[in-house]
Amino acid sequence: MGQKGREIAKLDHKWLIKELSKAYAFEWVVHHYASLASNIVSGLRAPVYSEIFKKAAEGEFGHANRVAKRIAELGGEPPESLSEMEKLAGFGKVSFPKERSDVKGFIKVFLKMEQHAIVLYNDLAQKTHGKDLVTHELAEDLLSEEVAEEEEYENLLRE
Ligand SMILES: [Fe+2]
Repeated sequence: MGQKGREIAKLDHKWLIKELSKAYAFEWVVHHYASLASNIVSGLRAPVYSEIFKKAAEGEFGHANRVAKRIAELGGEPPESLSEMEKLAGFGKVSFPKERSDVKGFIKVFLKMEQHAIVLYNDLAQKTHGKDLVTHELAEDLLSEEVAEEEEYENLLRE
């Protein structure tokens, strides 16, 4: 983003880049776990759920890249180190069900992650409201996607 584009973001850019880095890191963490789940889920329903988790992994990867683009526009870079990313994501320890055919156990983990993302983007949307319209719009957009995904997981739990 050029000079004017940066000027109109009326928030401390360091702070903003830090907040966006947390979102980027979290998206990567979810991308990793969804991709892993897609590869390890087993049992009769594995083909269906493997595909669901694979799509989710791709979606979260797309989110990470949209956040990275915004970080670049603000003159920053996403975190370089993977171990730093896990810390930044702030989600804590993830435990998948020991029984790899327990598809609902997997879904419960991803539902929690969606809820974490909803809080994260809701917060970011509120803090950027009227101050940085571009980040605000990105946060709103990602928020609405995470809300839709939360509902999809809730529906899967009811199956
Ligand atoms: Fe996401």
